[in-house]
Amino acid sequence: MHTIELTAATQHYLQLEEQYGAHNYHPIPAVLEKGSGVYLWDVDGKQYIDFLSGYSAVNQGHCHPRIIAKLTEQAQKLTLTSRAFHSNLLGQYAEYITKLFGYQKVLPMNTGVEGGETAIKLARRWGYKNKGIPENEAVIVFAEGNFWGRTLAAISSSTDPSSYKGFGPYMPGFALVPYNDIAALEAKFQDRNVAAFMLEPIQGEAGVVVPTPGYLQKVRELCTEYNVLMIADEIQTGLCRTGKKLACDHENVKPDILVLGKALSGGTLPVSAVLANDEIILNIQPGEHGSTYGGNPLACAVAMEALQVLQDEHMAENATQMGELLRAELAALQSPLISTIRGKGLLNAIVINHPNKEAAWEICLQLKEHGLLAKPTHGDKIRFAPPLCITEQQIKQSVAIIAKVLAKFA
Ligand SMILES: Cc1ncc(COP(=O)(O)O)c(C=O)c1O
Repeated sequence: MHTIELTAATQHYLQLEEQYGAHNYHPIPAVLEKGSGVYLWDVDGKQYIDFLSGYSAVNQGHCHPRIIAKLTEQAQKLTLTSRAFHSNLLGQYAEYITKLFGYQKVLPMNTGVEGGETAIKLARRWGYKNKGIPENEAVIVFAEGNFWGRTLAAISSSTDPSSYKGFGPYMPGFALVPYNDIAALEAKFQDRNVAAFMLEPIQGEAGVVVPTPGYLQKVRELCTEYNVLMIADEIQTGLCRTGKKLACDHENVKPDILVLGKALSGGTLPVSAVLANDEIILNIQPGEHGSTYGGNPLACAVAMEALQVLQDEHMAENATQMGELLRAELAALQSPLISTIRGKGLLNAIVINHPNKEAAWEICLQLKEHGLLAKPTHGDKIRFAPPLCITEQQIKQSVAIIAKVLAKFA
């Protein structure tokens, strides 16, 4: 055990959260109050390099000046109309995002999980109206190890007991297949009632599980062959995180329904989007779906700026280069504590090889002590996903911190 000491200020804030907040998270004990680019500062003024990026919501870097300027400018003008009325920004945003990703329409929502729910509703409706599936019999297939949020529908497709156990009964009409297994998927598609297959192009929360090259293309082919919609949950993998605008772009695959979230606002407010063509999206009529905040003018202004920043600052290219550097530098450590290094662009994870099953957690505590913030996922995996503006020098500095900490555990 490597103990860490918490300052009086840190203890004060931890105690407040512990006493008055629900205990639905187990955070690394860093109390943050400021961020800029790849850096975060805690209440004692200690600086950290952020290696999580708000689970990839902060791809553009913390408090990106252009995004914050747009946010504050729009916030002083108009923030919410509800969809009872129009705004001058919704149409502009819809044109911008649909042209950028090559779809006919967008349905704006807020959180990622709402985006997932929306995609599934669209797929069920398409299944009944377009595919001729008998009413209430549509099946949506998910990959084992998926994570798309915490609503009752999302946990109903989960294979992680800490997500679903004790929260039943579950949503019917969901089926599971192993991830990265084309034969299993084709077997499932024999059921004519399958409306859609929803998947993450790389499974983030499961520990950055990268499928075999060609998997996405084969999924696309099978979906087309069996008249099943391909839904890509690119909430974590999208928006330049893996070195392309979308992770599906690595295999030139175009999903029927694309779900985006997180970095769509550069970490400033919850903004998600569901993109699809008319034959899918126009099946939903007024009153059949929506959200008070979905498509609000503040979100529209921020999302356009957040997307433009990604392009203007060549963040996909930087993610590719810095990701390669990060994996090479980690490999060069030849640490016996790292059994696997995997990822694409700046969505990476290491798997810790240590008899103590708390080792990944303790390593993250020590990383924090040395000025780098990361968090374990599923026990022995640590995700390394810094903001996409990270520089070569900052990557090297980060790997030096990681090396120092691993040496303590060897
Ligand atoms: C792939 C994926 N989909 C959906 C979600 C849910 O997003 P939100 O937490 O904004 O609801 C997440 C969150 O981590 C995610 O990683």
